[in-house]
Amino acid sequence: MNDLQNRIAQLKQEKNAAILAHYYVRDEVQEVADYVGDSFYLSKAATEITNDTLVFCGVSFMGESAKLLNPGKKVLMPDKTADCPMAHMADIHRIQNLREQYNDLAVVCYINSTAELKRYSDVCVTSSNALKIVKNLPNQHIFFIPDGNLGRHIAAQVPEKEFIFNDGCCYVHADLTAEQIKKVKNTYPDAKFLAHPECRQEVLTLADFIGSTSEIIQYAKSDAAKEFIIGTELGVLYELKKNNPDKTFYPASPALQCSDMKKITLEKIIYVLENDANAVHITDEESIQANAPLERMLELSR
Ligand code: 13P
Ligand code: SF4
Repeated sequence: MNDLQNRIAQLKQEKNAAILAHYYVRDEVQEVADYVGDSFYLSKAATEITNDTLVFCGVSFMGESAKLLNPGKKVLMPDKTADCPMAHMADIHRIQNLREQYNDLAVVCYINSTAELKRYSDVCVTSSNALKIVKNLPNQHIFFIPDGNLGRHIAAQVPEKEFIFNDGCCYVHADLTAEQIKKVKNTYPDAKFLAHPECRQEVLTLADFIGSTSEIIQYAKSDAAKEFIIGTELGVLYELKKNNPDKTFYPASPALQCSDMKKITLEKIIYVLENDANAVHITDEESIQANAPLERMLELSR
């Protein structure tokens, strides 16, 4: 262990803290984390961890969700400016207008959203449970926020329901084009293309497998293929390479990097643990309203 890793281990003990990290953060941050996973795994883990303090190595909506699900715990964010632009890309007035228009409307909110948007939603979903949850909702009309790409991907698999889409997107995934994928496929004709559903439809139609980050990691591990083109943020390469030393992974594009996730560093983890800094605060009123759709997600995905 180097000096930074030693200091983190010491602080974790002193503060009775656990470190949670998303697959998109830097390799060295994933290495010191106690729990590494996709958004669903992390939100579920946050409800089960008994430590007093959670250090959330990810973007603000992840820390907010952990705090909403565990109001009694201290949730520290190594960099409070690490935010997901897509989390803000929906309009509360549009939600209210649509509720007036359709009396059976379900507002389905991707967990990549602010606590404020969650307050106005009926149920949260992540990329790994959205299909199951939407299928099981009794509602006929679904307003899917904020990600238009994930919404369309789910809608295609639930033709019996009527979807209203929102035009938010994740710039990291949405910038990927079909042209780029065709080029990489030509270079590596034996490789399977694995894509995250935040990618555009034209990209998803070229995929051999579409799934959340942990589903992509699971697929690469269990599939017989030896080469894969990775269509999601490149932080997943750390876990992919660790699990599959005999397999080769090619980035679909070198630009698949989330600059907010990469803001998290070991030095910042040490700083927040030493100073109890950047604690997530949510008012009681916000907490009650925004927690309900998250709890409903956990319940419906059981
Ligand atoms: P998942 O963790 O559900 O794969 O979502 C990816 C993502 O964009 C997180 O910011
Ligand atoms: Fe947001 Fe995209 Fe970054 Fe995930 S990868 S945090 S969706 S910008």
